Amino acid sequence: MAPRKLAAGNWKMNGDLASLSEIDQLCKAHPDPGCDMLICPPALLIHPMAASAQAHALTVGGQDCHAKESGAHTGDISAVQLRDAGAEYVILGHSERRADHGETNADVAAKAAAAHQAGLIAIICVGETEAQRDAGETLSVIGEQIAGSLPERSDSANTVIAYEPVWAIGTGRTPTNEQIAEVHGFIRGQLDGRTGDAVNLRLLYGGSVKPANAAEIFAIPNVDGALVGGASLKAADFGGIVAAL
Ligand code: G3P
Repeated sequence: MAPRKLAAGNWKMNGDLASLSEIDQLCKAHPDPGCDMLICPPALLIHPMAASAQAHALTVGGQDCHAKESGAHTGDISAVQLRDAGAEYVILGHSERRADHGETNADVAAKAAAAHQAGLIAIICVGETEAQRDAGETLSVIGEQIAGSLPERSDSANTVIAYEPVWAIGTGRTPTNEQIAEVHGFIRGQLDGRTGDAVNLRLLYGGSVKPANAAEIFAIPNVDGALVGGASLKAADFGGIVAAL
């Protein structure tokens, strides 16, 4: 059976307590969405958002976690703590974290293993820079990221992969449908032969998804949903994407 599609919003470092009104509007407008609906707000908003989402078809997630369960790691948050606050998912290895915090594939794999251990679904991000695409390195970069960032025992129940070309994030530019199909088909092939049913896990596209282009992107083979940045901040925009799935 085809996996249920996923509309995931990544608020990044945006939003405050007042922004929770967007969540109320989103939940009221989509009481029974035809896909899984997820928002990953800044860590401080996870608990209040999860509390207001409880009676609705919305799940909440984190944007990062530490690989350890607890200890002397000032400023960090563990997967267990995310779970305790009400998170069900965690985004890992986003290109902004790989660039800003020097996260390697091995770091991402360790964090994902901790997330699995805590009962969270890990959304593992991969994607090439514009220079890598221009140099014809897209598939080799993504192949390395997939091989290095997924821990053992990743399967369709505990892992989602998001393909986010770095040059498409927040720029209004998107790859062609053929380019998205090529990368998603390649990722599916990379998962074949891994343990469990990894080949069935959900593959999201991320990078300048908005209501106007969502339906076209979701029709591409092996696209099982979207990871949305800017357009997830407003209930009306994100709702338009949810409705297209
Ligand atoms: O994680 C989602 C993100 O990187 C895409 O951002 O603003 O291009 O939808 P945006």
